[in-house]
Amino acid sequence: MDRIRIRGGKPLSGSVPISGAKNAALPLMAAGLLADGPLVLTNAPDLADIATMTQLLRHHGLLVEHDKAARTLSISGNAKELEAPYDIVRKMRASVLVLGPLLARYGRARVSLPGGCAIGTRPVDLHIKGLEQLGAEIEITSGYIEARAPGGKLRGARIIFPTVSVGATENLLMAACLAEGETELVNAAREPEIGDLAMCLMRMGARIEGIGTDRLRIEGGATLLAATHPIVPDRIEAGTYACAAAITGGQLHLEGARLEHLGSVARVLRDAGVDVAETHTGLTVTRRNGLRGADVMTEPFPGFATDMQAQYMALMTVAEGASMITETIFENRFMHVPELMRMGARINFHGSSAIVRGVPRLSGAPVMATDLRASVSLVLAGLAAEGETIVNRVYHLDRGYESVEAKLAAVGADIERLPG
Ligand code: EPZ
Repeated sequence: MDRIRIRGGKPLSGSVPISGAKNAALPLMAAGLLADGPLVLTNAPDLADIATMTQLLRHHGLLVEHDKAARTLSISGNAKELEAPYDIVRKMRASVLVLGPLLARYGRARVSLPGGCAIGTRPVDLHIKGLEQLGAEIEITSGYIEARAPGGKLRGARIIFPTVSVGATENLLMAACLAEGETELVNAAREPEIGDLAMCLMRMGARIEGIGTDRLRIEGGATLLAATHPIVPDRIEAGTYACAAAITGGQLHLEGARLEHLGSVARVLRDAGVDVAETHTGLTVTRRNGLRGADVMTEPFPGFATDMQAQYMALMTVAEGASMITETIFENRFMHVPELMRMGARINFHGSSAIVRGVPRLSGAPVMATDLRASVSLVLAGLAAEGETIVNRVYHLDRGYESVEAKLAAVGADIERLPG
């Protein structure tokens, strides 16, 4: 298993290209099931999760071509196999995003339940209940969601989500495009990735109103056709590199990043003493003076993203004063805390809140993490720490950060991958 070695203490400086968003690309790829295609996605990142979704769509019988040099993904053809097997779904929960499109287009689907996850229980009940409201008949048998649309068609409905769910909004949005009649999604997630999916569906011929709001109205029954769509830049990757600039006391230009997509993350970074400025090509993030502790609570967009919580905590470990960090989206998303403590961080946590008391400096150590964002928070801590840090289980990073060590090395980090 590969590891990453970092020798910390170097302020970063330069320009980092921000890749297309993983969490936009995965639902967009699932949307390829809705049309004969081809659906061509540009600005496609080269990530392990993209390879997993490619494997799943090919398993369904679609033709998926990933031209890595051109950064395009081309998806075409019809599904011949309507089952998403456990062996693929267990590798990546976002596989469940094929459920809505398969059911809406082919009238049937059999999708493995994703099961547990390192950051929380993450049920998919909202996806299932929403599809039932669109007329689907669903049973859970032998660990699989068995879904059928009577008469082969879903019917539009008004669906009120009891809690905000990114994935359920995406599954229902895709299914509603092919359902008969009108669907309204109330209390829908507003993450930029949902807006990106809706824009792509519109390019394919869907009729959607309310993009960017928590109320999406979809006029169903459209026939979706070939389209080309650029994947939105990854706001979480951008936020992560913003923390890299801040934690090393450097300056980075984040090429392609968009301020409006950072939501509260930009405001919180500014509260902590980090300068975030919009330019015509992206964002420039600078830390000139000391960092101040600033409290955050994770929330659905435009609130502070749970996917930025671990990175922000790494930053707060070297800020002046204390900060309280509360995780409200996932029940077990503090797995980075004991690892950061091994590097000298002072953190107390109880339940869903952690108090971080800043220390003058961290010290390098061998560390490992159990999920993507926790892993990258340890890379950030390593960039600021004195001495050498070895981050184990790099495969977590490869799921969601394209060429992380190359991008960091290009802006002055002393970082290398140790093949294992
Ligand atoms: C998406 O996951 C992202 N994944 C996650 O990113 C992100 O952390 C999360 O949204 C929240 O922003 C992708 O986009 C592929 P949710 P998703 O449904 O859709 C509960 C990363 O690091 N819930 O918005 O699975 C759920 O348990 C990953 O890139 C139900 O109770 O998240 C959670 O508490 C990790 N029932 C909350 O809602 C359901 O049916 C929000 O989850 C669905 C969700």
